[in-house]
Amino acid sequence: MDCTMNSRRLFLKYLSAAAVAAGARPPVLMWALPQEQVVEVPGEDGMILRSYRFVDLESPVEYFNTWLTPVPHFFVRNHMHEPSELDPADWRLSIGGEVEKPFAWSLAELLKLEPHSVVNTLECAGNGRSLHRPQVPGVQWGQGAVGTARFSGPRLRDVLQHAGVKSTGKHVMFRGLDEVPGKVPPFIRSIPIEKAIDADTLIATHMNGSPLTKHHGFPARALVPGWIGAASCKWITEIKVIEKEFVGNFMSPAYRFPNQAVKTGDAVNPEDTHPVTALNVKSVITGPSNGARLKSGRVAVHGVAWAGEADVAKVEISTDGGALWNSAALGPDQAHYAWRLWTYDWKPRKSGDYTVMSRASDSQGRTQPSTAVWNPSGYLYNAVDQVNIHVA
Ligand code: MTE
Repeated sequence: MDCTMNSRRLFLKYLSAAAVAAGARPPVLMWALPQEQVVEVPGEDGMILRSYRFVDLESPVEYFNTWLTPVPHFFVRNHMHEPSELDPADWRLSIGGEVEKPFAWSLAELLKLEPHSVVNTLECAGNGRSLHRPQVPGVQWGQGAVGTARFSGPRLRDVLQHAGVKSTGKHVMFRGLDEVPGKVPPFIRSIPIEKAIDADTLIATHMNGSPLTKHHGFPARALVPGWIGAASCKWITEIKVIEKEFVGNFMSPAYRFPNQAVKTGDAVNPEDTHPVTALNVKSVITGPSNGARLKSGRVAVHGVAWAGEADVAKVEISTDGGALWNSAALGPDQAHYAWRLWTYDWKPRKSGDYTVMSRASDSQGRTQPSTAVWNPSGYLYNAVDQVNIHVA
């Protein structure tokens, strides 16, 4: 399903007037370009292009220096084409299935419900996939398919309450308005009713205080906090309450994790898997960068750490390749589903080469492992992070 491209940064600039004048639609322009050329995507300056075919953009980790990720620096993950024409006046959200009172609402009707805000770290299940060994197929994400934003909109449970969920309703299915190319199955997934009626699960219409942009699901998307990004369906147009987990490509075989440890490189029996839901505990070093050559003196090691539905309890840093660990200071900004910024003030004793590592632990007692659990689709990579640097 995923389109792959080797890890490489392409600097994205604004659409050239010439291309627009020539009538080239941005996707055509992008897909037609030889790989080394500058690629132009409006408003997404400096992002890493991971797929030509559909828009898949990764944030350089150096961008993670604010608690809330600015929308133009927020990763984008599309399995297919974004809806090309989406007039908010025509948009409808239908609610049906195992409900007493099915209905379809306009955007104005949806927005009459009380809004609620959740600061959530959204991470693609495949973030870090390129770091699994042996390598696995799929979009070769580095570490930047993650970001944190304040999502706002009505609670999904308020919408469901209007419809009246029957006792037979056990899962809630979302369908997006993606343009499905050829034989690709549509992007439809479901979540269990317990998560759907959680007070923090939203039909988000806003991100960081502004209406969602098209890349992020305008005019409305599901926001399933603490869970893999795939749970949060963009361009949502249909909600259906169903009796069982939805059966379809994006529930199985996609987004499933083996029940037992798999011998690295082995195939997995699909019967022996479960859907990937909540995110792992994880930290990433955002500076200094791998390969940095630093002057002598103090070094501010810094980064981000998150834990899905759990809270980050601590982040520890090792500057000697993992023998000794010291606690980093966690930043003041926090919210239940949001990452923490962290810093570690380090004074190297002497010049030389160092391996600096970060390791997060959470309120569920989980700690980042030294090696991530290998699985054939490369989901939930969360090994201890490390950078190699030289101090003069
Ligand atoms: N929703 C639809 N309709 N189509 C998609 O391809 N991608 C999912 C999810 N919602 C997707 C979708 C995946 S895999 C992720 S990681 C998140 O959207 C990414 O959200 P973002 O692009 O706003 O960062």
